[in-house]
Amino acid sequence: MADLALLRQLFEDPEPRRGEAVRVDDDLPNAKRLLGRYDVRSFLGMGCAGRVFRAYDRDELREVALKVIFCDEQQQQQLRAQRGGGAAAGQLHRREWELHRRACAAGHAAVARLHAVHELEGAVVLCLELLSGSEVFERVAAAADNNRSLPHCEVRSIVWQIASAVGSCHAQGVVHRDLKLENFVEDDDGRIKLVDFGLSVALEKDGSALRSAAGTVVSTAGTCAYLPPELLPEERGGGGGGGGGGGGGGEALRLTDGAASDLWALGVLLFLLGTSVYPFGSGELNERGQDTSKACRRHISSHTFTKRAAARFVQLEPSLRSLIGGLMQQSPSSRMGLKDVLAHDFMQMASCIV
Ligand SMILES: Nc1ncnc2c1ncn2[C@@H]1O[C@H](COP(=O)(O)OP(=O)(O)O)[C@@H](O)[C@H]1O
Ligand SMILES: [Mg+2]
Repeated sequence: MADLALLRQLFEDPEPRRGEAVRVDDDLPNAKRLLGRYDVRSFLGMGCAGRVFRAYDRDELREVALKVIFCDEQQQQQLRAQRGGGAAAGQLHRREWELHRRACAAGHAAVARLHAVHELEGAVVLCLELLSGSEVFERVAAAADNNRSLPHCEVRSIVWQIASAVGSCHAQGVVHRDLKLENFVEDDDGRIKLVDFGLSVALEKDGSALRSAAGTVVSTAGTCAYLPPELLPEERGGGGGGGGGGGGGGEALRLTDGAASDLWALGVLLFLLGTSVYPFGSGELNERGQDTSKACRRHISSHTFTKRAAARFVQLEPSLRSLIGGLMQQSPSSRMGLKDVLAHDFMQMASCIV
């Protein structure tokens, strides 16, 4: 089957579940083979930009994850709105894989490997290290379902992995800009890895402004529940919406200390890991950070947790509260750096086997 026809069939199921085998109409023996090389087997996940499949790479004799992103005109428009107005259409995907490649170059164990990139007419296929465990989101959601949160020792182990992954990206000059529970996935051995560089930008040499690889300033982008106050889209005369998935090219552009937006998001992640509730959103955990309501944005900009979140927050160990507080500073320049996160009292406490 021609590659694009196969890819289109893989996108037909509107709500595929992780682990579900892929189905294609064609009975030919190699109907699920992509690019003459990958046998596509099951569905792994989806986000705003693409779908991810488990596949067997016949050239390298290994299992991999394939992230497929379509680039038809409608998709391009959505991506432009999501990823920032500065980039020209053709650069949208390029930025993702170039920055992912750059982030991987340090070989950090907690950054998912990008093995290969295939540009087809109309789609891009990223061949990635396969992570066959679950998203960290699912771990926290399972705890939330039982009305509890993860034990502190488990939080510590997760934070150690995610903070060092983010530190490695920053050292490589990459700001991730979409740090959230869904973008950390476990491998077979329970090790956590960072994925999805779709919203990433290159850090300027002076470490300050958020600029695209092309040098233009990138507008607000990211997932509303994790956005720092300085990146919230401006309120516009009584209109709701905005927020989630990022503002489009028309939103007010704001410069901010590049790495600091990731530090805020790390604080939100820590809050979620410790309490199993969003600090600002009214939504339940299964809403996946998509609360874009005015109330959510008001909480962020006034830096006040919701009642429910505040009640959980005060029950946390003081050292975890102090770590979260250090990251979620309203002023970007006051946020705790990653070295200080790893050296923080909370991280130094005795660990447990998880
Ligand atoms: N390498 C991988 N191995 C296993 N699952 C993955 C991998 N990369 C992504 N996923 C799953 O697919 C989902 C969507 O991928 P992601 O890169 O985040 O796409 P999007 O840019 O559309 O958000 C992730 O949240 C995760 O559940
Ligand atoms: Mg994602």
